Amino acid sequence: MHGGARLVGEVDVVGAKNSVLKLMAAALLAPGTTTITNCPQILDVPLMGDVLRGLGCQVDIDGDTCVIETPEELSHLADSAAMGKLRASVCVLGPLVGRLRKAKVALPGGDAIGQRPLDMHQSGLRKLGATAAIEHGCVVAEAEQLKGAQIWLDFPSVGATENILMAAVLAEGTTILDNAAREPEIVDLCTMLQQMGAKIEGAGTSTLTVHGVSSLQPTQHRVIGDRIVGATWAFAAVTTRGDITVRGVNPHHIELVLEKLRTAGAEITVEEESFRVVMPERPKAVDYVTLPFPGFATDLQPFAIALSAVSDGTAMITENVYEARFRFVEEMIRLGADARTDGHHAVVRGIERLSSAPTWASDIRAGAGLVLAGLCADGVTEVYDVFHIDRGYPGFVENLNRLGATVIRVPA
Ligand code: UD1
Repeated sequence: MHGGARLVGEVDVVGAKNSVLKLMAAALLAPGTTTITNCPQILDVPLMGDVLRGLGCQVDIDGDTCVIETPEELSHLADSAAMGKLRASVCVLGPLVGRLRKAKVALPGGDAIGQRPLDMHQSGLRKLGATAAIEHGCVVAEAEQLKGAQIWLDFPSVGATENILMAAVLAEGTTILDNAAREPEIVDLCTMLQQMGAKIEGAGTSTLTVHGVSSLQPTQHRVIGDRIVGATWAFAAVTTRGDITVRGVNPHHIELVLEKLRTAGAEITVEEESFRVVMPERPKAVDYVTLPFPGFATDLQPFAIALSAVSDGTAMITENVYEARFRFVEEMIRLGADARTDGHHAVVRGIERLSSAPTWASDIRAGAGLVLAGLCADGVTEVYDVFHIDRGYPGFVENLNRLGATVIRVPA
């Protein structure tokens, strides 16, 4: 990408990656036809389709619509090659235990952003009456009966909340899940499960109460807009001192982000499902602390670092969720950023302009963060391993070029 462009224009954001993949897993809970719309056209959606096919489902993905035919007789063995290619594949565990009372699920893959254990997924299932252990590279779980229980999570894990929830909806009796994750994607999952007949109270709060039912029905559901992609464009506007209108994302899902960007000097107006970010001058440095929702999302940390690198002043960025995410700082230093890390903290002293260099994407967000940084560097910056970006950003290069950037995708 050529540095120096000011990004100006409008961009449409489609459904959230971190929602659609869990909604596809939820289709396992009800035999029949589930239809999910507003699906993003990213690699992880067909990969999740392959995971479901491996369990006996028929999956048709056409544009932004995914139709899943779930059979009466499902396999409990999730070991297709796709399992290791994405993190969300582990979300078939809860539905399989809920419906079949047993599951053998190969350990998932996904971004290398730090340790990603499954201890809370397992202990939650154990509380519901299942056995759960890791054996020969698989999570193996089995239950004679699933009984509602009081469960406290040590940390509001997104994946553990989803798996426990999807097992509890078909357990006998009432489950109370405390310190549950509150992300909008969890609310989206609860909405779809409620449409399927599940009895869930407290969606969007840290206490989920689930009254188990004996069966669920398939449904049709529209995925919520991707708040992480929406926030990426908000950062793109501020970092390049541009003017971007983002459509298809609920601004309430990124209120804290927008407030941070206002503090950096951005002018932001919001509507129901869109917002506009205008950056009239050089951004001011702002501190960021990553936390579970409604805190500042760890997935946005690379964008906070890229922005801080060209801001006026010094910013402290604290990472509380995934320790390995600071590997991104090494790549920023290639671009001339004045940044250093110490444990959970990164200190970034802003400079006027970065300087182009070859860089390597290590995960989805780091890859997109390098592209934003490259747009603020003198000369032509190269980002390698962009297949990571494809997993999260449909049409990323096309959108950038429509907004006025000059970005070329070079086939590997
Ligand atoms: C999801 C998102 C990911 C995002 C993350 C945090 C998907 C596919 N991915 O990942 O983009 O960065 O939420 O917002 O939705 N943990 C444990 N034990 C467990 C489970 C988690 O210690 O059993 C720890 C993790 O190591 C991490 C923290 O809890 O430090 C948060 O993880 P979690 O919320 O579970 O993230 P994911 O669901 O994997």
